[in-house]
Amino acid sequence: MNIEVLLTESEIAGEFAESIEARDLPEKFFYWSAQSVSAWQRMAKRADDSLFATWESLATKAPDLTRAFGKRVPVISFGAGTGLKDRFILKSLAQAGREVKYFPVDASQSLLETACAGAEDEDCEALGIKADISSPMHLMLAADVSEAPRLFLMAGNTLGGFDPLDQIKHVAEVIQKGDILILDARLHEGDDVRYDPSPEEREFVFAPLADAGLSLEDGTMEFVERKDPRLDGLLMLTRRFHATSDLRLRVAGGEFPVARSERILLNFRYRFTAESFRWLLTEHAGLRVVVELPSADGRYVTAVCIKA
Ligand SMILES: C[S@@+](CC[C@H](N)C(=O)[O-])C[C@H]1O[C@@H](n2cnc3c(N)ncnc32)[C@H](O)[C@@H]1O
Repeated sequence: MNIEVLLTESEIAGEFAESIEARDLPEKFFYWSAQSVSAWQRMAKRADDSLFATWESLATKAPDLTRAFGKRVPVISFGAGTGLKDRFILKSLAQAGREVKYFPVDASQSLLETACAGAEDEDCEALGIKADISSPMHLMLAADVSEAPRLFLMAGNTLGGFDPLDQIKHVAEVIQKGDILILDARLHEGDDVRYDPSPEEREFVFAPLADAGLSLEDGTMEFVERKDPRLDGLLMLTRRFHATSDLRLRVAGGEFPVARSERILLNFRYRFTAESFRWLLTEHAGLRVVVELPSADGRYVTAVCIKA
């Protein structure tokens, strides 16, 4: 198995300690440890069915969509996770006789290993790239593993784990004429729906703190969804841990005190309306949407985009 490393484990450990000190944990730390990965997989299994069906159905169109690529199709997946959804596309392209090379890009070593192994089990050549997709430089280096035309994927509302206004611009900057980007987004039904997290989501969000030695009795979890004033139709779900006693977190060989009543910001998640998602892709990031596919239950939309 080949994995190219732009982001090392010791860099991640250092950043994790800094983030604990800043009381603000970004998305990548929620897929880092074995405990986080299994909590995420339990949550995704419960939540994702209709999105799987969309990617499965899109995969049947992948050979046609990439007809202009010729025989070879490089597939680069930003935030690939286990690569389960990506593999529908890889399989369909291989069945159509195309030479597919798969480049999963992720900060999580164990998820990258799973994505590469899964592709190799399907006889697809894979090179994992361990990188930080919130860094424009890492996105560019990851995209440069192959010349255009390339098929870029971003599945599982990965966009919603970042500031979507910044992130979609960074992604669009690496898309060249001839490339295709397929990405999905989680929709929301209205502004006044009270957010009610599942037990699996609570466990997933708490996992990095559990790794640092905390238990659920050490505090309370707060989930608040509110409008992002920058764009109509953008909702941001914030998740926070509120310490109810004086605590010590053990991180990367160090100890970090957290006083009673302090709050730690956990990873946030964005949801979109179909209109705000389309605006981000087109007006904001300069892409052209050539296909838009709502999921059967209306909870997700998936867009196929090219450079405008
Ligand atoms: C919501 S999951 C989606 C995974 C997969 N695409 C799917 O559909 O199941 C987000 C993925 O992005 C990765 N990720 C989060 N932050 C990242 C970062 N800053 N750099 C690279 N990968 C990151 C996580 O490790 C995780 O695999």
